[in-house]
Amino acid sequence: MRGIILSGGSGSRLSPLTKITSKQLLPIYNKPMIYYPLHTLIQAGIKEILIIVAPERAGDYLNLLGSGKDFGVKFTYEIQDEPKGLAEAFLIGENFIDDEDVAMILGDNIFEDNFSKEINSFKGGGKVFVKKVPDPERFGVVKFNKEEKIETIVEKPKNWISDFAVTGLYVYDSRVVEIAKSIKPSKRGELEITDINNWYLQKSELEAAKVEGLWLDAGTFDSLLAAQNVAKEKLADKMSF
Ligand code: DAU
Repeated sequence: MRGIILSGGSGSRLSPLTKITSKQLLPIYNKPMIYYPLHTLIQAGIKEILIIVAPERAGDYLNLLGSGKDFGVKFTYEIQDEPKGLAEAFLIGENFIDDEDVAMILGDNIFEDNFSKEINSFKGGGKVFVKKVPDPERFGVVKFNKEEKIETIVEKPKNWISDFAVTGLYVYDSRVVEIAKSIKPSKRGELEITDINNWYLQKSELEAAKVEGLWLDAGTFDSLLAAQNVAKEKLADKMSF
């Protein structure tokens, strides 16, 4: 299993903090934000990790993370010129993924759970990780049928279909590269991860696992502040680096 941390974008909602560095390098209590998704992948035993960054921030990432030796893993870096969608990560990562399975995590997503079992038991297809939220309209959303199988998956549905948000952790087999090549940009001009998920769903190859512990994204001032306090109380002493 290969790992990808998607850590691009301009972080404009957090300006002026993001005028000098990337959102995903801002502090969450005593660690840079990206340490949390990095910890999630490393805890699952992933040793080869591609970090996708915005061009103007690449130097900051290299300075902070280096080769990966300090973390016992190997890092590869790629540039995403513009934030053209989550699914673009699989085009940028084509050579890195090769014919391996891949777990992708967003650089601003913070999880409490240990996903080792879910990631290591992966047998192909696609897997998303869902969590009940009070504001599902902000996310990709999964509706389950009576057998607890995924019935539909919709990006930011205007009308309520379910409270289960798709979090920023995804596992796919290597077909994801060809699928990413086949999808078209959405109305907002992005290659949508939801279109990848729908491809697997149509083949009855998309599974969902529920996130039990905390899940935070830190994309606004309020969520950044909340994440810092939660990290201090609940996550800081669970980190191995
Ligand atoms: O957080 C989970 C949600 O992430 C999912 O529920 C949605 O299905 C998925 O589309 C995505 O939602 P957003 O549209 O709100 O994601 P956002 O544009 O905020 O990007 C998430 C992170 O990924 C953000 O930290 C920046 C980074 N990013 C985003 C894009 C579009 C990139 O590095 N490159 C990109 O091209």
